[in-house]
Amino acid sequence: MAVNCVNELRERRTLGDEGLLELLESEDESVAEELFRNAREVSRAQFGRRIWLRALIEWSNVCRNDCLYCGIRRGNPAVQRYSLSQEDILQCCQQAYRLGLRTFVLQGGENPPAALLLAETVAEIRAAWPDCAITLSLGELPRETYALLRRSGADRYLLRHETANPAHYARLHPSGMTLESRLACLRSLRDLGYQTGMGMMVGSPYQTMQDLLADLRLIEAFRPEMIGIGPFIPQHDTPFRDCPAGNAGLTLRLLAILRLMHPHALIPSTTALSTLHPGGRMAGILAGANVIMPDFTPRDQREAYALYEGKTAAWTETAANLQDLYQELSACGYSVASSRGDYDESIHL
Ligand code: 5AD
Repeated sequence: MAVNCVNELRERRTLGDEGLLELLESEDESVAEELFRNAREVSRAQFGRRIWLRALIEWSNVCRNDCLYCGIRRGNPAVQRYSLSQEDILQCCQQAYRLGLRTFVLQGGENPPAALLLAETVAEIRAAWPDCAITLSLGELPRETYALLRRSGADRYLLRHETANPAHYARLHPSGMTLESRLACLRSLRDLGYQTGMGMMVGSPYQTMQDLLADLRLIEAFRPEMIGIGPFIPQHDTPFRDCPAGNAGLTLRLLAILRLMHPHALIPSTTALSTLHPGGRMAGILAGANVIMPDFTPRDQREAYALYEGKTAAWTETAANLQDLYQELSACGYSVASSRGDYDESIHL
């Protein structure tokens, strides 16, 4: 029965609520394997056995928001706040470029005045590396700021919707933050010509299977170019410190379902997954993900960007560590792609 669901999902790229819930809830290993195998095949038909790397640069942990799950929330006085200078950021890009990466991801806390100033750095990156993609992940900003950053050369923007249920959204965020405003930002980003990424945490406090189903439907309706999901992991300085972490198996099933629903999407195997589950990075690839985001944040700042427990220990991106990554991939028959790897509805490799 569940196996029929997998076939139907692959054929039709969608499935009724009942079927999706069955796949989400199934604890049957053979169902999960079937899901992963199909998602892998779809991913390989689309991208070959190639994985795109994105250099993650956590440029600042200064944040105006107070999201209850997040370690760099404004209300956490234990965080040493930092912002990288333009020179630091360009150096990170340089290092990533030398190692062959062709997408830079500038991620940071939500800080509108700083985001405005960052436009200059984006323009510098654009001028220095015209063959690279620039992805931003800076939270909710005024449309004009998104527009300025786009004109300055940014190509893509990641803004997770976090949960598609407005009531659940309200339990994860302080009053004043709404799902509606998050979705308005996503629409602006798309209007402005960004390739847009959305996604959710899996197993965040109070989340139900119905919520995850709503996430799948929201993503299906929006059709983003990128989809980022990862398990919730508690952080010791947040109100959710005692909440249980999300489930790695469920995260992998969701990755596979998303791949079958969105064959062309750029889907990373995220750091949170590998933090929770040893071998999670490769497990994500084998469940249909096609992107990995090595962390190029300078060592001194990395510790201060602790969104969740154990994140800093995850991995350090040096040339040697990238070699390890290449070996891990090649042991499963994968290699690293050398282009910037844009979303392209028309590619059929
Ligand atoms: N566990 C897992 N993911 C988290 N994020 C923030 N805090 C946590 C946490 N405790 C994710 C959010 C955010 C992204 C930058 O990091 O989904 O959008």
